[in-house]
Amino acid sequence: MSSELVTCTVEDGIAWVWFSRPEKRNAMSPALNRKMVEVFDEIEFRDDVSVMVLGGEGTAWSAGMDLKEYFRETEAQGLGGVRKSQRESYGWFRRLRWFQKPTIAMVNGWCFGGAWGPLFACDLAICADEAKFGLSEINWGILPGGGVTKVAVDLLPMRDAMWLTLTGDLIDGKQAAAMRLVNESVPADRLKARTREVAEMLLQKNPVALKFAKDAVRRVSTMTYDEAEDYLVRMQEAANFHDKTEGRKEGIRQFIDEKSYKPGLGAYDLSKQKG
Ligand code: COA
Repeated sequence: MSSELVTCTVEDGIAWVWFSRPEKRNAMSPALNRKMVEVFDEIEFRDDVSVMVLGGEGTAWSAGMDLKEYFRETEAQGLGGVRKSQRESYGWFRRLRWFQKPTIAMVNGWCFGGAWGPLFACDLAICADEAKFGLSEINWGILPGGGVTKVAVDLLPMRDAMWLTLTGDLIDGKQAAAMRLVNESVPADRLKARTREVAEMLLQKNPVALKFAKDAVRRVSTMTYDEAEDYLVRMQEAANFHDKTEGRKEGIRQFIDEKSYKPGLGAYDLSKQKG
């Protein structure tokens, strides 16, 4: 059965990117990893894309790394083959962590092992109550590699990370939301609509501020307080330079002078700003 591996459509400012290998439960093969980079190259800096959603076709979000094509077949090529396939997969996970636009993981079904890499890389995550998450590595005799153990301890309390790592137990969407592995869990038939609502919320915000803010959340987590304070001052100054619309001034103007909105209750009107 042929498969497109990754597909993408752009609608109303949102790029809907799909793991599109449902017959293999969207397992990430080297070919899929390379296709993902091609899709990112097409959409990341397009003016008509302001938010990116990553979903999965069929019953899986992604069943993790492809045990045959990613592990067995690349190992058969020797160390060079292994390192190449690692570079390709870790490369797009890294690219996704620092993606130019805000990103939302829309998790419909299975989400195993290596798939926690892109799950973590997406800024926000919404899942179906019916989704199933697991660190299945222990079940086939390895540790959760490729950054997955790091993802588990960064996102979960130690006891939960350890439990899932050692037992390979599955959790469903509601449990994942309770553990804060995802932001929200909703019934499957609401998943796309809720994800669209969240994306539309982001479409209202200043895009330069979104990029600097999302990077700041990831960067400061490993800094001391003083380092973070300094970094945030410098980054706001850099954002001021990058924002040709001078959004922050417009935001203040609409609140203080025009009195047309309240920043505590929503975003300023982007359509009134210059540029
Ligand atoms: N790597 C390679 N192939 C995979 C795969 C993976 N991670 N996950 C699923 N597939 C393949 C199966 O081998 C099968 O191929 P086939 O039709 O040629 O036999 C096909 O996808 C469908 O999988 P199947 O197991 O029949 O589907 P299911 O819906 O009954 O079960 C899973 C889904 C995800 C529970 C099960 O496929 C599974 O356990 N996959 C491995 C998950 C895993 O451990 N991933 C961690 C990688 S780090």
